[in-house]
Amino acid sequence: MNTSELQKIKQRYNIVGNCDGLNRALDVALQVAPTDLSVLIVGESGVGKEIIPRVIHDNSPRRREKYFAINCGSIPEGTIDSELFGHEKGSFTGAIGESEGYFGVANKGTIFLDEVGELPLATQARLLRVLETGEYIRVGGQKIMKTDVRIVAATNVNMRKAISEGRFREDLYYRLNTIPIQMPALRDRGNDIVLLFRLFAMQIAEKYRLPKITLTEDAKAIMLKYKWPGNVRQLKNITEQMSVLNEGREIDADTLRRFIPQDPESTQLAPISPSGSHSYESEREILYKILYELRGNVSDLRRDMNSLRKQLDEARQLNGAGGFRSLIDAPAASTLPERSNRSAATPVYAQQAPLQAEEAEAEEIREPETLNLNDLGRQMVEKALERNGGNRKKAAQELGISDRTLYRRIKQYGLDKA
Ligand SMILES: Nc1ncnc2c1ncn2[C@@H]1O[C@H](COP(=O)(O)OP(=O)(O)O)[C@@H](O)[C@H]1O
Ligand SMILES: [Mg+2]
Repeated sequence: MNTSELQKIKQRYNIVGNCDGLNRALDVALQVAPTDLSVLIVGESGVGKEIIPRVIHDNSPRRREKYFAINCGSIPEGTIDSELFGHEKGSFTGAIGESEGYFGVANKGTIFLDEVGELPLATQARLLRVLETGEYIRVGGQKIMKTDVRIVAATNVNMRKAISEGRFREDLYYRLNTIPIQMPALRDRGNDIVLLFRLFAMQIAEKYRLPKITLTEDAKAIMLKYKWPGNVRQLKNITEQMSVLNEGREIDADTLRRFIPQDPESTQLAPISPSGSHSYESEREILYKILYELRGNVSDLRRDMNSLRKQLDEARQLNGAGGFRSLIDAPAASTLPERSNRSAATPVYAQQAPLQAEEAEAEEIREPETLNLNDLGRQMVEKALERNGGNRKKAAQELGISDRTLYRRIKQYGLDKA
């Protein structure tokens, strides 16, 4: 294993860790990159499988050609064949024009099929054919098309079980699995856990311009023993949550326990995120929660300001007009809505920010907009749809959520009836 080359790769892709399992995975990726062999990356959810196909493509002779990452689990069964293999004009309701499909567009390049275990059986048959012969037929078409695509696939499901239950074709499994790459679970990476924590603590500190959080020795010991069912993604989420929601910058054992799920077998993320399968989604959920809390802080501030103002008024009446005037005559430099925007980026300080009389005046003039989780979610979806001319696929991509999640939200917010 060439350690300096591995080091370079880690730097280039911001990969942190030095355990044998990770090094082996990267090493195999580099070795197979120059070939056209199919690679199957296996590992639990959140271990970092998506890094590998990028490394393979960028270090292969195909590096200047197209690279597509396709999440097989997020494309509806009814459209997946046409998305992958294209369709002819009028081949199904809504097929206005013809489409080339990923296998056509990616000719000479690489396709990463994430969550390949989710592919419907009919699609598996088409995929096997294109892998074996380089040939495929568009949906509703007759003509045999040719393509030259390298496939890297990933799965977190037990493929043997899927095969024995008839959900996955054995022949396709062997074809995809020419070179297996195993990504180790986070719990098996020893001190890499602490290194990854430091990376994420630093990233979030920069992103939100907060002081970086650190771990006490006790907290470190808990981290090393914890099972991390959601692996690196979970560690990243928890580090973000602690950075943003915890006021103290040193995380001790008790604080850490509050953020780590009580049940070590649980795959739920600690106290905030209910779903947690998509990193973007849980990140957004954290932000929702922060905004929601900020709204509470703003209401508290408003209440405090009102009572302060009352006291000032009373004092003024007692002392004659103008007694405390100088205190509240400062120019109104900032307005409250602006302030709450700023606070969203630095939430920990939001609670500590000293009350300025000038803001009390601004507050009088302008009612801050009510912020509500549902409104915020609906607005984000609406805006994304607007920006993309109603194209749901593009809107979902921009929001970093799957098509299915977007459809669900559109229904939930009643946007389909608008
Ligand atoms: N070794 C690593 N160094 C830095 N970040 C990592 C590492 N492994 C995973 N990540 C991060 O963890 C998150 C989950 O990784 P991802 O590749 O999406 O997992 P998977 O596809 O296996 O579910 C991503 O944000 C990724 O950047
Ligand atoms: Mg993934």
